[in-house]
Amino acid sequence: MKKNLKTFFQPKSIAVVGASKDSRKIGHAALKNILISDYECKLYPINLKEKEILGLKCYNNLKNVPVNIDLVLISVPAKFVPEVLRDCVKKNVKNVIIISSGFSEIGNHSLENELKEIIKGSKMRVLGPNVMGYKNASIGLDASFVYGTPRKGNVALISQSGALGIGMIYLANNELMGVSKIIGVGNKIDIDDDDLINYFSEDDETKVIGLYIEAVKEGREFMNSIKACDKPVLVVKAGRSSAGARATESHTGSMAGSDKIYSAAIKQAGGIRCRDIVELFDMARALAGQPPAMGNNIGIITNGGGLGILLTDACEANGLNIPKLSKKTYKKIDKVLPELVNPNNPVDLVADAGFYRYEAATRALLEDENIDGIIVASVHGGYARPEEFTGAILKMVRERRLHEEFKKPILATWVGGREYEDLVWDLKSAGVPAYPSSWRTARAMHGLYMEGERIKKERKED
Ligand code: ACO
Repeated sequence: MKKNLKTFFQPKSIAVVGASKDSRKIGHAALKNILISDYECKLYPINLKEKEILGLKCYNNLKNVPVNIDLVLISVPAKFVPEVLRDCVKKNVKNVIIISSGFSEIGNHSLENELKEIIKGSKMRVLGPNVMGYKNASIGLDASFVYGTPRKGNVALISQSGALGIGMIYLANNELMGVSKIIGVGNKIDIDDDDLINYFSEDDETKVIGLYIEAVKEGREFMNSIKACDKPVLVVKAGRSSAGARATESHTGSMAGSDKIYSAAIKQAGGIRCRDIVELFDMARALAGQPPAMGNNIGIITNGGGLGILLTDACEANGLNIPKLSKKTYKKIDKVLPELVNPNNPVDLVADAGFYRYEAATRALLEDENIDGIIVASVHGGYARPEEFTGAILKMVRERRLHEEFKKPILATWVGGREYEDLVWDLKSAGVPAYPSSWRTARAMHGLYMEGERIKKERKED
């Protein structure tokens, strides 16, 4: 029976084997990241010859550390890893992260198989080899060797690629997307995506789970973990093309497998497949900040007819419906529009739309029982003042009616320049995702709709 990952993510004692005084070495960076973490734990550098590193007492072997160890990070050349791993088993270490590369990703399968043999039968959990480690933003612990501090939030990210995982930290910060944990899984000799999905599905700090995968080792377990998870699971699966599949083999030593089978299986399990990392983030921001759409009827508000049509096309292409307005809603919106304009869906507030029109139309759609989600769009045309568009949405957020009373999602779209970017920042800070593209907005709404469908299915099964 595999042990759960509580002590892995919240260790009380950590050792770094291969810790070094040399600040250019990975073992130095890993030790330092843990040391400067805003997290209390015992920390032990292990080095063959040093007496002290970064002010911490150093040990020449794990066995000489006077306490039990919850987590060991290994950063020594691949050929020495088996010996260190054996020491970990002997000392009853609970969890290990093998940072070292030089295993199946370069065709060195025999060395990787040796590691598997060593841990066979032990309760110890092992991440890697060939990983960056993890950052647990929920508690402030950085158990990785890489730079970058994620904003604390509720999206858990799992990446089979270490470098991409690091990029995700910066991208998340740029998009004001908060992260609960981010972890690289590398060659997955033990801890696999399904273990992490299972853990994050129980994790109070996590609301949405996002994965970048190149291959799944235990297909059935992977699908079962998504199926059992009562949170949205977003999956970017690389290696769609034959050349891409070839590239996965030399990256993490993985066989990409049939793309069609992956797509069908992820969908059947209730996960959402994303085209790339940006799409994953677009959906994750929506799912983390907004309630799900409990149906596919979407209301679109815009001050530019063209943008309204683009949004309509993109929504329809993503399984969303743009219904005609009910009589009641028509009347409410008609009151605020110029005389010669009739309300429709998409609702064109026309180019000179200000705060009042945006606010009245958004409110009317929120109150309309036939509408499950709203997209509010703005084009920076000659008359339009961006703050009137963002101000109307922020008013709804402040009134808290969005989430608590109507339980409907709002997404924003904009087409414009730098002046918009600052204002859009306010929306993002308030948890309203804003996208500079009709397609990205529609995909994010599709994600909210898929989550609504998943919840309805779950309720039916209960
Ligand atoms: N016990 C204790 N200390 C040891 C042991 C041991 N058994 N063996 C070696 N050491 C010490 C060394 O003496 C050295 O300390 P020193 O600097 O005081 O001499 C330290 O451990 C490190 O060993 P080195 O031989 O200097 O190895 P180096 O740090 O150059 O490389 C590393 C080790 C980083 C693990 C390297 O082999 C490697 O795999 N690099 C790639 C890592 C990687 O990229 N992983 C994937 C991450 S995902 C991503 O892409 C971001």
